[in-house]
Amino acid sequence: MPSVRTSTTLHPLGLALLTGCGDGSQSALAPAGRDAEQIATLFWVMVVGAGVVWLLVMASAVYAVVRGEQEHSEKLARRYIVGGGIVFPTVTLTVLLVGGLRILPGLLDLGPDEPAVEVDAEQFWWRARYRHGDDWVEVANELHLPVGHRTALAVRSPDVVHSFWVPALAGKVDAIPGRTTHLALEPTREGTFRGSCAEYCGQSHALMALHVVADAPEDFEAWLAHQAEPAVAPEGELAARGAELFLEHGCGACHTVRGTAADGVLGPDLTHVGGRAHLAGVLENEPEAFVRFIRDPEAVKPAARMPAFDTLSDAELRALGHYLDGLR
Ligand code: CUA
Repeated sequence: MPSVRTSTTLHPLGLALLTGCGDGSQSALAPAGRDAEQIATLFWVMVVGAGVVWLLVMASAVYAVVRGEQEHSEKLARRYIVGGGIVFPTVTLTVLLVGGLRILPGLLDLGPDEPAVEVDAEQFWWRARYRHGDDWVEVANELHLPVGHRTALAVRSPDVVHSFWVPALAGKVDAIPGRTTHLALEPTREGTFRGSCAEYCGQSHALMALHVVADAPEDFEAWLAHQAEPAVAPEGELAARGAELFLEHGCGACHTVRGTAADGVLGPDLTHVGGRAHLAGVLENEPEAFVRFIRDPEAVKPAARMPAFDTLSDAELRALGHYLDGLR
């Protein structure tokens, strides 16, 4: 399939509709995973199949109009009814059904028995824990996966139903309170793919985005090893002031920065937050984005659980943003 992203003949609106968000990074029609490829193929088979059936029906309708009330021979009429009304639909639906069922075992292959990643759908962000030797390493909103490997994910939710969906990689799976659901992802090419929550879960449902970065296996191992390390020490006066403010204002009650006194578990782990491409899944990651979010989380993500810190001065917010951005 030609990449929709690079086509210049499509009207921009058509392109946006086809790819879901414009650049193809969240498009089931620009697959970058084994499962998504099978789903996309099934989609195109269904589209072509439905198109052919539509053309045949339209041709029959035109034929019927053109023939007017001329009589058909009874033999010909019976052929139309038996052929077009019974044989053709039976054969067509059987072929489509068998084609659809054939890809099921591949989609249901959950990979290794032990999930390598646990994903918790929170209000309104994604907590992910990676198995790293005997330990677990926690990150948020940005997952990395090795290309060419099938990674097993266990998906959970502490409160309401969400749905984990990265369209370019695979189908979706619900996060259901009190249960663990399973999914496997197998990227086939490197890149960053956007995912979103696919089950209405509250005010910021549409902002509950995540990104999956598909890395070469050695890059993935390096990334995971780096995530397992404690946070870097703040560099420079401004960052050091930010680190002080972070602890003084109680940020550590909800957030963990490994290697410091901050060990809260309610909010995202911020040990390497500055190294992620996005903040809160929806902002470009830069010091100014931290300032915006800390001052008024509600303005970025309505009903987010984090309280506003609008009593902090601009200088204090800038120091905090600088410190957090430096946590690469
Ligand atoms: Cu979480 Cu919708």
